[in-house]
Amino acid sequence: MKAIVCSALDGVDGLAVKDIERPESAAGHVRIRVRAAAINFADTLIIKGQYQVRPELPFVPGIEGAGEVVEVGDGVSIPVGTRVMFVAGVGAWSEEVVVAEPMVVAIPDAMSWEDAASFPVAWGTSHIALDHRAQLQPGETVLVHGAAGGVGLTAVAIAKQMGATVIATAGSDARLQVAAAAGADHLINYRSDDFRARVKELTGGRGADVIYDPVGGDVFDASLRCINWCGRLLTIGFAAGRVPKAPANILLVKNIAVIGVHWGAYAERDPATMRSSLETLVEWFADGAIRGTVSSVRPFEAVHTALRDLLARKTTGKVVLRLE
Ligand SMILES: NC(=O)c1ccc[n+]([C@@H]2O[C@H](COP(=O)([O-])OP(=O)(O)OC[C@H]3O[C@@H](n4cnc5c(N)ncnc54)[C@H](OP(=O)(O)O)[C@@H]3O)[C@@H](O)[C@H]2O)c1
Repeated sequence: MKAIVCSALDGVDGLAVKDIERPESAAGHVRIRVRAAAINFADTLIIKGQYQVRPELPFVPGIEGAGEVVEVGDGVSIPVGTRVMFVAGVGAWSEEVVVAEPMVVAIPDAMSWEDAASFPVAWGTSHIALDHRAQLQPGETVLVHGAAGGVGLTAVAIAKQMGATVIATAGSDARLQVAAAAGADHLINYRSDDFRARVKELTGGRGADVIYDPVGGDVFDASLRCINWCGRLLTIGFAAGRVPKAPANILLVKNIAVIGVHWGAYAERDPATMRSSLETLVEWFADGAIRGTVSSVRPFEAVHTALRDLLARKTTGKVVLRLE
């Protein structure tokens, strides 16, 4: 079967489309014929050996995707033929993948393969972060950094769905328009504007109640200066490359919390919460309360340019690889 294989931890250059053996099926698992698979920032790290998960070489990357169930192992209740989204951890960039049943969620008929393939990580992370971890309340103000990116765009939409006012930051005015279309109330270009001062202005001097930060580095540091009393700063990722440090004196004086979010860890530690979050999100999608964030669909063979575009901050929302 066709798959994108990582044969060396050289980043994008270590990847090639190859013919490989089909994965073995197992009890409690389902075999899925993959129709589409998403690209995530974490994929750019895993193929350089810089991610928490370090699979043995060679391996097939790809955290998530969507397709049809074509075979089920013993003890599985999901029927063959079901259209599903799945979280594989690795292996999604492949014609077929074998996934444990709890990591597979049936999708509505109206959901495209592309929307389903790029759904779990981005929507799941933002929902667990804002609802479960930050306990966001209606009427609160949320500052979303990297708001035009994969996770950021879903954070904008979820915060709006939960009744918050959303301030979005991004690196260009065109990227901010993408966040505006997802419902952001206020837009800040953090390359041309001092977001710390603008957030204070927009919140009557108080600062944001919840800050969603997938960028880290200087953005994290400045966020601690525009957060409200009792605020919650969600640390989602470090797209800027620097892992920031939280000064305890500021946490104390401002009575704030810095909250870590590791969505992938819920698969092992709390799969029930992960699943119920995804089921809520799929219902919201089916009801039209949220909509897909895919901006670009590319063939498997274009994985190299897709990853390079993501790293160059040229992409918005989600980029999806399509298998024909
Ligand atoms: N904690 C979790 O469970 C979890 C889950 C999913 C993702 N993440 C993390 O969240 C981060 C974003 O992931 P993603 O898939 O949304 O990626 P993405 O689509 O590439 O979005 C990242 C955004 O960050 C902004 N950015 C700011 N400085 C950047 C820099 N120096 N390099 C690249 N981007 C920069 C970019 O927007 P502008 O150009 O507009 O600034 C970009 O849109 C990553 O660190 C990822 O590992 C964490």
